[in-house]
Amino acid sequence: MPKHVAVIMDGNGRWAKKRFLPRVAGHVKGVELVREMVRACLERGVQYLTLFAFSSENWRRPQEEVTLLMQLFVKALEQEVEKLDRNGVRLRVIGDLERFEPRLQELIRQAEAKTASNTRLDLTIAANYGGRWDIMQATNQMLAAQPEKRAGWQECDLEPHLSMSFAPEPDLFIRTGGEERISNFLLWQLAYTELYFTPTLWPDFDTAEFDKAILSFQQRERRFGRTSEQLVEKNNA
Ligand code: IPE
Ligand code: IPE
Ligand code: MG
Repeated sequence: MPKHVAVIMDGNGRWAKKRFLPRVAGHVKGVELVREMVRACLERGVQYLTLFAFSSENWRRPQEEVTLLMQLFVKALEQEVEKLDRNGVRLRVIGDLERFEPRLQELIRQAEAKTASNTRLDLTIAANYGGRWDIMQATNQMLAAQPEKRAGWQECDLEPHLSMSFAPEPDLFIRTGGEERISNFLLWQLAYTELYFTPTLWPDFDTAEFDKAILSFQQRERRFGRTSEQLVEKNNA
């Protein structure tokens, strides 16, 4: 089982369009699939689930859609946190949260505090997140904390300041919706992640689709630069 699964939930708009519905109907359905995905991770013992909900580039969308997405986010926090908490899920939101309305920022803070001691599943929502922003904010934080690093620093100096420093790097990355790109999601952390792309639109990505992705992951050999023979030797040792 992958320990950490990171997902770009793409295809909500196209799912709605196919049904002659407004794009937002796809986002509403998409929230339902998040619920299903969380349940699936709890059942399968996936420890970390990280979901890309809103990128730093998504502000470029029509104002109306951005507003509706924000409203959906607020509603989801109001309605779901209690249940997440009961199920032992710890919720975190990563990204540049300052751009959100104070009410949304407050709900996020409350949800994180309420679920802070839960350990069954670490659910992380990336919102107004960008991989480049993350590396930049981490660098600024590191240099503020350790000005002497200006003269030179190493990967391990930066890592504690990245948004996902609490989690191991993703084992499996899933992007639904057919696009095969990273779209400024976790750039640093995906360096050695297994990538899985599927044309299935996010609102159609059910548990069976998730299991297909996990199976694909389980059939891969993760060599991390080594040769296949070295891995066999290590396993036999
Ligand atoms: C992903 O679905 C959800 C968000 C980016 C918020 P899209 O809205 O990008 O759906 P498509 O790609 O237009 O189908
Ligand atoms: C990426 O989806 C971000 C989220 C799913 C939140 P987009 O649909 O915005 O990605 P691009 O811009 O088409 O690559
Ligand atoms: Mg899209």
